[in-house]
Amino acid sequence: MIVLKLGGSVITDKDREETVDEDRLGSLAGAIAGRGDLVVVHGAGSFGHRYAAKHGVSVTEGTHDGAAVREIHASMERLNERVLSALGAESVPAVPVDPLSVAHRTRDGELSLPLDGIETMLAEGFVPVLYGDVISHRGEGATIVSGDELVVALAEGLDADRVGLCSAVPGVLDDAGGVIPEIGSYDEVAAYLGESESTDVTGGMAGKVRALLELGVPASIFGPDALAEFLAGGAPGTRID
Ligand code: IPE
Repeated sequence: MIVLKLGGSVITDKDREETVDEDRLGSLAGAIAGRGDLVVVHGAGSFGHRYAAKHGVSVTEGTHDGAAVREIHASMERLNERVLSALGAESVPAVPVDPLSVAHRTRDGELSLPLDGIETMLAEGFVPVLYGDVISHRGEGATIVSGDELVVALAEGLDADRVGLCSAVPGVLDDAGGVIPEIGSYDEVAAYLGESESTDVTGGMAGKVRALLELGVPASIFGPDALAEFLAGGAPGTRID
């Protein structure tokens, strides 16, 4: 099975508050149409982040304010609704999985994501759709979980065959702006990506590459035009293995 992330900056207009890139989302949904055995995760883009910042909530900084949690979550639900309807319009049997309701962080910040429901959805032919969200965090109230963290947890727990990150850029770029076709170790690309802090989980190419190298499942980072090629078994963009 495949775990696919649709980056927030791919499906939304990052500069315009809560604005979906309808054309882009529609064409991505069209590429997904007809493919099963797939879990989709989407990011926030111009949704979610503003409310997280407003309430001072991050991956590590939590809140106990229920209204703040509801506000961040509601923004992500609005985007999720749009993603579900775009997929539905292409007859993809997409169904939502709310991270807030099923996942949590332990006291040391580790993500716990129960997978029984998602496995059952997959077995019954559905396409589960998760998203970066706010989740309860033991000792912290509630903190943010990024789509990238969910991708890693899903790929590990569901024994995925491949992971795809559909991003706004066509892959990991070298200093001349060219796509690096393959990365086997962090040292190969450290010069382009800089030192990655282990806490860098919400964004940044360095954090993504490091997490994907540790994953042990072949992963590709590619641009929106290459989604169909990736789903057909190709390795567009940058392959990390
Ligand atoms: C962030 O998710 C979730 C919230 C701010 C609630 P991501 O970190 O996966 O979003 P993008 O893809 O970078 O926008």
